[in-house]
Amino acid sequence: MKDKKDKEICLYDKIFIPFIKKEKIQETVKELALRVYEQYKDTTPLFIGVLNGVILFFSDFLKFYPGPCQIAFIQLSSYQGTKSKDINILLHWPVDLKGKEIVILEDIVDTGKTLKKIKEMLEGKQVKSAKIVSLFFKPEVFKEKIKVDFIGLEIPNKFILGYGLDYDGLGRNYEEIYQLKE
Ligand code: IMP
Ligand code: MG
Repeated sequence: MKDKKDKEICLYDKIFIPFIKKEKIQETVKELALRVYEQYKDTTPLFIGVLNGVILFFSDFLKFYPGPCQIAFIQLSSYQGTKSKDINILLHWPVDLKGKEIVILEDIVDTGKTLKKIKEMLEGKQVKSAKIVSLFFKPEVFKEKIKVDFIGLEIPNKFILGYGLDYDGLGRNYEEIYQLKE
């Protein structure tokens, strides 16, 4: 395995090349935070991060979000290697959602299977409202009829890593986004 300073990254059997620079990511996250704020400035939203991929995005989003807000996390798992699989719930809603204005934060929406599961998990919770923010979105693979309310960047159908996203548990710690070299 090469270290963080190399341009190309080799993790297990795959090579990843630089794709989205740190500055572009930061600019996108800031824009998203301010767009969300525009809609929620008169209320106190509960931001719910979907672990593990959301960690860096969540943290930066909060730093750019100028208003009062609360936070919580859920944890779902789907990916195995570079392929999307069935969804497992590892950590359920930790708080009572009744009457809350919730905003789900996702690192990336790919097939939409995770989002569908989250929507199911919300049934009967009597939330006041629920919206979805995703930093990245792959329109070519998205299969569900669910609205992703706020999207940072649309990207082509390529496996990416870095800035929280992993390949079999590795690569979450990079500040830039890399893509799989085919
Ligand atoms: P979906 O259920 O297919 O929409 O996939 C959602 C989850 O899979 C995301 O929240 C990510 O954690 C993970 N995922 C999707 N695409 C990628 C990718 O390109 N790289 C790394 N993880 C991904
Ligand atoms: Mg995720």
